[in-house]
Amino acid sequence: MIPIAKPWIDKEEEQAVVNVLRSGNIAQGKVVEDFENQFANYIGTKYAIAVNSGTAALQIALMSAGIKPGDEVITSPFSFIATANSILFCGAKPVFVDIDEETYNINPDLIKEKITNKTKAILPIHLYGNPCKMDELMEISKKHSLFIIEDAAQAHGAEYQSKKVGSIGDAGCFSFYATKNMTTSEGGMITTNSKDIFEKARLIRNHGSLIRYYHQILGYNFRMTEICAAIGIEQLKKLDKFNKVRVSNATFLSSKLEGKYAIPKITNNSSHVFHQYTIGTKNRAEVIKRLEFGQIGYAIFYPLPIHKQEFYQNLGYRDNLPISELSSVEVLSLPVHPKLSQEDLDHIVKTII
Ligand SMILES: Cc1ncc(COP(=O)(O)O)c(C=O)c1O
Repeated sequence: MIPIAKPWIDKEEEQAVVNVLRSGNIAQGKVVEDFENQFANYIGTKYAIAVNSGTAALQIALMSAGIKPGDEVITSPFSFIATANSILFCGAKPVFVDIDEETYNINPDLIKEKITNKTKAILPIHLYGNPCKMDELMEISKKHSLFIIEDAAQAHGAEYQSKKVGSIGDAGCFSFYATKNMTTSEGGMITTNSKDIFEKARLIRNHGSLIRYYHQILGYNFRMTEICAAIGIEQLKKLDKFNKVRVSNATFLSSKLEGKYAIPKITNNSSHVFHQYTIGTKNRAEVIKRLEFGQIGYAIFYPLPIHKQEFYQNLGYRDNLPISELSSVEVLSLPVHPKLSQEDLDHIVKTII
């Protein structure tokens, strides 16, 4: 069986975890701080705040930007549910804008008509590792004084106009879930150049406290452990290598699948890090049958857009977002992770052509 995802863990990660376990300090401490500094340095921001999931990163970033009940936040519905839920966690309202049919990312041309006097932020998702059109988004945000919180959960190391995603908007949010381009098993990170967001995020992560048992605001326990951070430090050293192999695998797949399937389209002036390699096809059920016969893992990201989920239907969402709805029946993600061999790649291509 060729799995759709496989974490790449070496001796270095094992040793780093053992070192932490033997140190006696396993909750958030110096190793987390080192990981934050190294991650901020890699992304190119002044600050990074480590947390225990990408979902927590999104919620904290929005709260730190001051998103509160009554506010509206614009996002796209073709994403993992955590993106929109993080807006609900702040008591605010997700407002959905349809996606671009080639990149599956938010379509900046459709944002203007959804802006109201309650709109406070845009939450674009760099889906599958492909950057959003950040120039256009930044222009809209400047014109309407909106925050931009980037959902970079799938895009560690991806660049837009030579800048790493997560360093372009007011804050970037990363996930280190096991299948991501780099992992800490579970974990997340907020990146920002804003001192204000940094200071608030640090408080919200830790029960509103900087000095133990003195609490300035209402907060949560969203802390990362030293064990997770130790894995993260080792993974970060290898991230560029992992991404290079993902890009090379994707380039090979595209060279063979072009003309037969809708192959991934990379946003102009960007580098895509291929968290997923996602094709489009009108014959998805048939392709899935072949993949199953060939013992090849696959996934559908995502089979139901967020506004169509039961929970959002119960909240009263009745949007008509045709590109998201069509994409959810046509997309199919194939293995692209760096553990694939040339033999695996040949087998994938042969099976679906
Ligand atoms: C686009 C997107 N946003 C947010 C998240 C949430 O991250 P986590 O699973 O670490 O909470 C994910 C993770 O799957 C994601 O893919």
